[in-house]
Amino acid sequence: MLTTKQKTLRHFWYPTLRVEEVTAGPKPFRLMGEDIVLFLAEDGTPAALEDRCCHRTAKLSKGWCDEGRIVCGYHGWTYRADGLLVRIPQFDPEQPFPQHRVKSYHAAARYGYVWVALEEPLAPVFDIPEDTDPGFRRIFQFYESWNTAPLRLMENSFDNAHFAFVHQATFGDVKQPKPKSYAIEETDYGFKATTVVDILNPPAAHAVTGTTEPTTTRSMVNHWYLPFARRMDMTYPSGIRHIIINVATPVEDGEIKLVQLLYRNDAEADCSTEKLIAWDATIVREDKDVLESTSPDAILDVQRRIEAHMPSDRPGLIMRKRLLELLHAHGEQEVTYAY
Ligand code: FES
Ligand code: FE
Repeated sequence: MLTTKQKTLRHFWYPTLRVEEVTAGPKPFRLMGEDIVLFLAEDGTPAALEDRCCHRTAKLSKGWCDEGRIVCGYHGWTYRADGLLVRIPQFDPEQPFPQHRVKSYHAAARYGYVWVALEEPLAPVFDIPEDTDPGFRRIFQFYESWNTAPLRLMENSFDNAHFAFVHQATFGDVKQPKPKSYAIEETDYGFKATTVVDILNPPAAHAVTGTTEPTTTRSMVNHWYLPFARRMDMTYPSGIRHIIINVATPVEDGEIKLVQLLYRNDAEADCSTEKLIAWDATIVREDKDVLESTSPDAILDVQRRIEAHMPSDRPGLIMRKRLLELLHAHGEQEVTYAY
């Protein structure tokens, strides 16, 4: 599915840049094939505009901010956070002022990121209760461009059959290729998927899992949020909660920004931020390698997939079904594929 072609997907929030990255001035971002500029309005809330001055088309992200307004670096035309043109420095004060604006988008700060929706959002940014829970710490784990499709990342996130193969060097056990199934409960936002999986626990993972046993288990209560977000909520027998939030922000067809946050109910002294980033980075790179080798366009040949499917493909099949239902419910009968 070419995400830039499906208008309904423009009605969802996606994380773009860290809030702290836009405090110093405007920054560009590409979302679903559109160039946008992000900056902070006078009250400190994020703003997102089309990255194109309506005078002679310079990129506004090359300009600067002046009391929460964005100034084009070419001739100084100045826009409010809602996109309205409010100053043309070359004009005399008595000159009639033209009513021009650039396109503006929905922008909000959540969990340390600027989230943007290109059109009226169909759902709020999903809740992460641990973000305000003093018993948990938040770690910005990754932010990377991957050459894959957002749906590929999502289906991989719920595919327990790849562990034994893709993650042999970390926690997967190649002698256990038959994974446990998820119990899946569909919800209005996507689904909830629960399971318990056995994993290897090499010494490098001991502080992460909170045990020195050679094997351990993960009790997982995971969630998929339409269209491209996932919460992987793991509890180890040690009592450690390891909650990974991933969003596959669609940049272009075949390109995503992988945004990954981690919440842990332990302290820095138990397992350092550095270690947690390094351990999960190794795992995530294993996924990146294989996902970038897949076709970025997700074939929605559901019938063939149902005939040949393994139980571990079921979450991905439900995602495809739900995405199609979503598009159809919003009047998009046509789904565009790369081939
Ligand atoms: Fe922006 Fe001229 S192009 S002010
Ligand atoms: Fe994986």
